[in-house]
Order: sequence, then C-alpha cells, then structure tokens
Amino acid sequence: MLGVGEIRNHSASLRSGARIILARQRIGGFEAQLPRYIRPMSAQEQTTAGNAVIETILRRRSIRGPYHDRPVPRGHVELVLASGLAAPSSKNAQPWRFHVLETVGLRTRIADAVDRSSGIEEYVPHDPRTGNPSPHWSSTVLESSAVLRTAAVAIAIENRGVFSGGRATLYAASHEALIGNLTAYGFETMGLGTALENMWLAANSLGIDAAFLGDLVIAEGEARTLLGIEGDLMGVLAMGYSLEGPAPKQAPPPVTQTDSPVVWH
Ligand SMILES: Cc1cc2nc3c(=O)[nH]c(=O)nc-3n(C[C@H](O)[C@H](O)[C@H](O)COP(=O)(O)O)c2cc1C
Repeated sequence: MLGVGEIRNHSASLRSGARIILARQRIGGFEAQLPRYIRPMSAQEQTTAGNAVIETILRRRSIRGPYHDRPVPRGHVELVLASGLAAPSSKNAQPWRFHVLETVGLRTRIADAVDRSSGIEEYVPHDPRTGNPSPHWSSTVLESSAVLRTAAVAIAIENRGVFSGGRATLYAASHEALIGNLTAYGFETMGLGTALENMWLAANSLGIDAAFLGDLVIAEGEARTLLGIEGDLMGVLAMGYSLEGPAPKQAPPPVTQTDSPVVWH
C-alpha cells in the first residue's frame, strides 16, 4: 500500500478473465487511481462469477432422459409456468399459450402421431437455395418422440400469431405482405424463445431436467386437434428427473458468416 488515504475500490473484469481492482488513493495532496492487486479469476468465478442465475444458465443442457417415473410436483410446474408468463415480448403482446401435458395418455397420443407422420427422415432444415435437406443435419424426430414418451410432464408452446396471423397467414401472403409479416413473426418467435428459456432455466433451478422438442411440430395437425390449439404449435418442453446426464454437446455446423459467434466493436 502506498501511504494512508481515502480508498474507494472499483473492480473491472477484462476480456481475458483477469480482474483488476483499482483503488483511488490520496497520497499527500494528490489523488490517483492505482491497481491494488491483479489476480486471475478463480475457476468458480470464471464460470459463474459466484452468481446462481449465471450458474443455472451455464449449466443448462438438453437432457433427453430417459426420465424417472417420479412426478414433477404441481407447485414446481406452476413456478415454471409463472416464469414463462413473466417473459418479455414485443409490445408486451405475450404471443404464447402454454398447454400442460399432464397425462401420460395425452403425451403418448402425441408421440404416436409423431411416429406415424410422413417425411420423418427429411424433417431437417432445408437449404433455401436448393430446396434440399441441408447436409449438416440428420433427423431426430424419432428420438424426440421417445423423449416425450418418458417425460414426467411436458409443456406445449403455442404461438397465437398476434402480429403475423401465424404460419397459415404467412403461407397465403402476397410477396409484399410477406415482408412485414415475416418481421412480425420473428418478433413473436423471439418472445416465445424468451418464454421457453425462462421455463427451461426455472425447471433446472428446481432440479428438473428438460429438453425442448421442436421436432414434434411434424405432427402439428393431430396435436392441434388433441390440444384444441388455434394458433401454431412451436414445440414441446419435456421435463422430468433424468436417469442419465446429457449427451456430449454436438459440434455446431460450419460457420459461414464469421468465425466467431461474438464480435466486439
Ligand atoms: C428451437 C429449438 C428446437 C429444438 N428442437 C429439438 C428437437 O426437436 N429435439 C431435440 O432433441 N432437441 C431439440 N432442441 C435442442 C437442441 O438440439 C439443443 O439445444 C442443442 O443441441 C444444444 O444442446 P444443449 O441444449 O444441451 O446446450 C431444440 C432447441 C431449440 C432451441
């Protein structure tokens, strides 16, 4: 320490992960801000900064079971739903409706409908330039329906189409209308994504494993009838207590626009 004086500490984290703690120190008649000590962040600090929310976010994985037959307490499902309902959305339009699939019979009927659907093998993103299935991905539809079968409870997410009118309106739209509608649809789905993530993280924070199954949309027609959905089915968040940990994370497809998913400007 350099002399005695008024010290107010400030801390700053560097991109490298090192932490500098600056101390404003008055030495004689002068005040200066000097590094008090510099040390690398501990492994714990680097992953979570000691923050439970960040820890839950960084630990979240798709855990696809098989799930234990232990039920998820109703109160925990309600907390998960409350977390989804608290999500942000464009204009606060809250484009969602959540359908709780409580009974095993209903989950099984939806999984059966998925397995009967045609085009299961090609159910992957298509390259818009060629119209062909994208070579980077293989179909996971059958694995996804298997996840739903063993889930203890699941939440189907409906997009009410508050701005865009939903997929049917987009399909029928003129080219000019499509420009605005696609933007609107994007905002709806961003809101739905925030709700999904809120529910997923809330579930994990309560010790509940979860996986989101967009693949189930392949059986949208039957699922809409079974659930009385008027809008679009966006997918199902399956939940339970898994008997196994997560599979190793898949490598992302080759990046085309930039080498890094984060760009600092
Ligand atoms: C919109 C969306 C749709 C998804 N659909 C499926 C799906 O149908 N089946 C599945 O097993 N996982 C599905 N996932 C999970 C992803 O495969 C998973 O998030 C990704 O591989 C990264 O792994 P992680 O969640 O363990 O970090 C989906 C995730 C999102 C966000």
